[in-house]
Amino acid sequence: MIMANFLKSRKSVRDFKKKKIDPNTLEELTLNLKEFENEEGSGNIKFRLYENGELLYGGLKGLGGYSGVMIESPHYILLELKNDDDKTIIYSAYYAEKLITKLNEMGISTCWVSILGVDENKKKEILGDDIVIVNHLLAIGYEKPKNPFVQDPFSERIGVEDLVFEKGLDRLVDMEDLETRGLGDLFFYARFAPSTKNLQPWRFVLDGPIVKLLIAYKDTERPLFEDAGIIMYYFEALANTQGIKNKWKLIDGNIKKAGLNYKYIGEYHL
Ligand SMILES: Cc1cc2nc3c(=O)[nH]c(=O)nc-3n(C[C@H](O)[C@H](O)[C@H](O)COP(=O)(O)O)c2cc1C
Repeated sequence: MIMANFLKSRKSVRDFKKKKIDPNTLEELTLNLKEFENEEGSGNIKFRLYENGELLYGGLKGLGGYSGVMIESPHYILLELKNDDDKTIIYSAYYAEKLITKLNEMGISTCWVSILGVDENKKKEILGDDIVIVNHLLAIGYEKPKNPFVQDPFSERIGVEDLVFEKGLDRLVDMEDLETRGLGDLFFYARFAPSTKNLQPWRFVLDGPIVKLLIAYKDTERPLFEDAGIIMYYFEALANTQGIKNKWKLIDGNIKKAGLNYKYIGEYHL
């Protein structure tokens, strides 16, 4: 399972070489960006290559990234949304992760960078007057070689046994049952997907041949729709390697359970 191996080793790179990506590769990449925009098809999502990484980094240093820790890279990709709908956010992240998979094949490393809190005028000043909504960027480039004597940072993941439920949110899935149904690997690898601050808000509910995807969230915050789109992409890609070619169908809904909120995102038929 190539996708499974990729996911298990996939990680955010935060230390990039200054070396720029060569113009031919950037040109190929620009074609890929267009291809993914077209495949998505709504016209609400634009991937823009920002070549002059130095300029962008200079402008967003101290502002972008978690707590203003901006990631420095030779180039960036802007994830531009034409509206703020849940669906637009979900599919922007779905295709961003498809793009990250492609970049990885090209030997290019990436890190998601949040610029949600950056002042809108500042964003326009740096990213261009004509941008509509840009809440995330992808830092892209070549990873700096690591010190072989220093342990790589590793982001822990929640176990399958705490992510997957049976029928409703009252009962966690029986792991043996999951294996018997041939679904153990699918969930084992899907949880290596990246998520905002590694919060892993995804919860799955098995209901016969249907998998329901929920996103746990706090009353005071908007559900992390990017994280939903990301896991939807990997879930489909992994299922595909097992011969299951279906796509997620979005469903709108909310579930409250034991004081916690869950946004109902969609269903997948196995
Ligand atoms: C929507 C989104 C926004 C993110 N924003 C940032 C960010 O601003 N800065 C950062 O260092 N990492 C960011 N990340 C990376 C996550 O923190 C990272 O994927 C997660 O901790 C898991 O680590 P891994 O990607 O190395 O497996 C973001 C990830 C996602 C999905």
